[in-house]
Amino acid sequence: MREIALHVLDLVQNSLRAGARLIKVEIVEDTHLDSLVITIKDDGCGMERALLEKVLDPFTTTRTTRKVGLGLPLLKMAAERAAGELSIDSKPGEGTVVTARFQHSHIDRMPLGDMAGSMLTAIISNPAVDVVYRHRVDQRAWEVDTRTIKAEVGEEALTLPVVIQWLKSYLEQGVSYLYGGVVENEIS
Ligand SMILES: Nc1ncnc2c1ncn2[C@@H]1O[C@H](COP(=O)(O)OP(=O)(O)OP(=O)(O)O)[C@@H](O)[C@H]1O
Ligand SMILES: [Mg+2]
Repeated sequence: MREIALHVLDLVQNSLRAGARLIKVEIVEDTHLDSLVITIKDDGCGMERALLEKVLDPFTTTRTTRKVGLGLPLLKMAAERAAGELSIDSKPGEGTVVTARFQHSHIDRMPLGDMAGSMLTAIISNPAVDVVYRHRVDQRAWEVDTRTIKAEVGEEALTLPVVIQWLKSYLEQGVSYLYGGVVENEIS
């Protein structure tokens, strides 16, 4: 994978497979500290210590369709290539937190990629699961919480093309605001 946004999608898939009901995705870019940190926190089944210890080994997977699990080891390698690291905190029955840190300016840091697209996919492919996406770039912060959207329009609405189209542009405008873009329609 060549983009952080695609790794985020892979982590979200892990959380979904773990039966999460709420997945929190946080991205913090701090150019002063020269760091980019992604954190995915879920309330899924968590991992036993033995699995947690092996999970960064590419031959560990609980998948039955394929013999190797590569998502976490690849992200770990990508973080380490950019002078960063990956850590996992997990408790059986409580959930998992995966944190990957990169040196923001590192020449080998992968680009962030299409976060709006990844988050749209994560949200609409599982309307019953709640997603919080928080993103900060220095002084600018933006977030979306599907619990708030569902309180307004209902869970079923997340499958309607018109709502998906609205969510797509809402996410795109939110992300563009973070990088200094102008918000065309007011986001409320
Ligand atoms: N959020 C999570 N909650 C519970 N278990 C997890 C979580 N993330 C990963 N795991 C466990 O760690 C294993 C390895 O995850 P990893 O993403 O590296 O590979 P994979 O998901 O099995 O395969 P791939 O990512 O290549 O499709 C998973 O099979 C799963 O057992
Ligand atoms: Mg995976």
